[in-house]
Amino acid sequence: MSDVKDDNDWPPQIERRDFLFVSTGMMAAVGAAAAAWPFIDSMNPSADVQALATTEVDLEPIAVGERVTVIWRSQPVFIDRRTPEQIVQANSDDDSPDLVDPATDASRVQEPEWLIVVGVCTHLGCVPLGQREGDQRGEWGGWFCPCHGSHYDTSGRIRRGPAPRNLVVPPYELRDDGTVLIG
Ligand code: FES
Repeated sequence: MSDVKDDNDWPPQIERRDFLFVSTGMMAAVGAAAAAWPFIDSMNPSADVQALATTEVDLEPIAVGERVTVIWRSQPVFIDRRTPEQIVQANSDDDSPDLVDPATDASRVQEPEWLIVVGVCTHLGCVPLGQREGDQRGEWGGWFCPCHGSHYDTSGRIRRGPAPRNLVVPPYELRDDGTVLIG
């Protein structure tokens, strides 16, 4: 797959490699729902809903500096295994006056290496660029939403443009087996 951004490729497509993660997570969720189905009558009705509302992702194959997109509740979620430089940058900007929606980097991550955010621009809902090699990442090296020019930093915080809020951090659990459960 080319590393060069194709301007005609909009909206951005989920990469084949990324799709494998998506498939794995979604199959796990669907499998859990199917297994639970015969027992629904004797269970809390929210149990099947809960299974479908989570996405499990194996983090092991994601290299430092890599970004992967998965789907959770029909939305893209960006998983970014940040480099030490990106982490330092994010922390050093904690007190920057241009933070539109002030938040420390530490408040947005459970472990500094893993930034996990919903990949939906908080302006009007476009999917920002920055997940693929060659994508524009904006002036702060995070994500860039070309719809109306919003720049997000390496913590997913909005720094410039019309978006009013930072990229949303979804509920998630980093597990000891190297997976993350989103939802
Ligand atoms: S939807 Fe992202 S800047 Fe408008």
